[in-house]
Amino acid sequence: MHEVAKGLAGIIVTETTASMVDGSAGHLTYRGYAIEDLTTYANYEETAYLLLHQRLPNLHELTDFQQSLGTQMALEPHFVEVMQRFPKNCHPLTILRTLISMLGVYDPTADDNSLETELHKAYRLIAYTPIFTAAWSRLRRGLTPIPPDKNVGLAANLLYMHTGLIPTPAEVAALNVYLILMADHSLNPSTFTSRVVASTDSDIYSAITAALGALKGPKHGGANEATMEMFMEIGNPENVPSFFTEQVKGKGRKIMGFGHRVYRTTDPRSVILRTHAETLAKNSDNTRWFDIAAGLENLALADPYFMERRIYANVDYYSSVLLYMLGIEPDLMPLVFAIGRMAGWVTHILEQRLENRLIHPEAQYIGENDRVWVKLEDR
Ligand code: CMC
Repeated sequence: MHEVAKGLAGIIVTETTASMVDGSAGHLTYRGYAIEDLTTYANYEETAYLLLHQRLPNLHELTDFQQSLGTQMALEPHFVEVMQRFPKNCHPLTILRTLISMLGVYDPTADDNSLETELHKAYRLIAYTPIFTAAWSRLRRGLTPIPPDKNVGLAANLLYMHTGLIPTPAEVAALNVYLILMADHSLNPSTFTSRVVASTDSDIYSAITAALGALKGPKHGGANEATMEMFMEIGNPENVPSFFTEQVKGKGRKIMGFGHRVYRTTDPRSVILRTHAETLAKNSDNTRWFDIAAGLENLALADPYFMERRIYANVDYYSSVLLYMLGIEPDLMPLVFAIGRMAGWVTHILEQRLENRLIHPEAQYIGENDRVWVKLEDR
C-alpha cells in the first residue's frame, strides 16, 4: 500500500515561474513582483502581459497589447443568436463555460498548438471573457448588449458594458485591483485542471472550458457568490453575533470566504481587498455589507476554533463586498473571477506546452478482489 495524498495536499507536481505562493508567510508574487506593488502601480493588462511574456511591458508594448485586446473585443451575431436562446435562469458560469467552448468552434486555428498561435488565442480569450460576461448580464435582463469602448481599458470596459454607465476612476481602480489579485495563484484547482487538459495536447479552448468547470464550485471560484449570499442572509450588522452563534458555532456552518488550502496565515489578497472594499463602501454611503463582513471576521478571528485551525479570510471574502459595491450581482461574481484568472490560465497552458509531460497520477485500489462471476440470469 502506498501513502495516499487526499486532495493532492502538499504534492508538488510541476514547476512554474508564473507565481509564487508562500502560505506560511502570506506572500504572493507574480514573476517575482509582489502583489502589493502590482496593485499599487499596474493595471490588469500590464499584469496579464507580465504573466504571458515573463516581463513588464514598456509603454509601446503595453499600448500595442491593449489595442490588440481592443480590436478583438467584438460580439459577433452568431454568439448573440445562441445566447438569446439560453434559459435566463441558468447559472451565468455555465453560460460563460459554453460560450468559451463555442469560441473554439469558430476558431479555425483551435487545434494548432504552436506557441505563436497559442499566444494569439490567449489574447482572444482574455478579450472575449469580459465581452461574454457583460453581454449575458444584459441579455438576461432583457437588455441589448453594449459594444465596448475601444478607448478605455478592460476594467472600465467591463463596468461600462455591464451597466451602460461611464464608471468613476475610483470604481475602475478598485476593479483593476481585484482583477490583478485574481490573475494567478500557482496550481489552484482550475489552473491544475487546465494544465491536465493541455498535457494531453488537447486545444486551449478545451483546457479553459475545463478550468471554468473547476472554478464554478463554491470551494473555489463560486465562493465569492456564496459569501455574498451569506452576507445577504445575515442582512444587517446587528444580526452578525446571532448568525455566528447559531449558524457557525451551533450548526457547524462554514463561513464562506474563509479558509484556504495553502495559506496558514492571512491571505495577502484579502488585506488589500478589505481596504478597497471599505473605501468603496464609505464613498457610496452604504457600509452595510462591509460592516457585516468586518463584524463576522472579527468574531471568527477571536474564536478558538478558527484560531487553532488557522482559518482566516481568503480572497473571496472582501472581494464579494467590493464587487457588489461595483454593481455586480452575486451569481456574476465567479465570472469576474474568471476574467481575472484568464491571464493565469493561459500562461500556465503555455508553460505546460513548453515542457510538456502527460499529467497522469495513480490511485490506490481499495476495492474487492477475486470476485466470482455470476451469470446474468442468476443475479
Ligand atoms: N469555516 C469553518 N470551518 C472551516 C472553514 C470555514 N470556511 N474552512 C475550513 N474549515 C475547517 C474544516 O471544517 C476542517 O475542520 P476539521 O479539522 O475539524 O475537520 C479544517 O478547517 C480544515 O479544512 P478543510 O476543509 O479540510 O481544508 P481544505 O484545505 O480541504 O479546504 C477550503 C479549503 C477553501 C475548501 C475550505 O476552507 C472551505 O471550504 N472554505 C469555504 C469556501 C471558500 O471560501 N473557498 C474559497 C477558497 S480561496 C479562493 C479559491 O481557491 O478560489
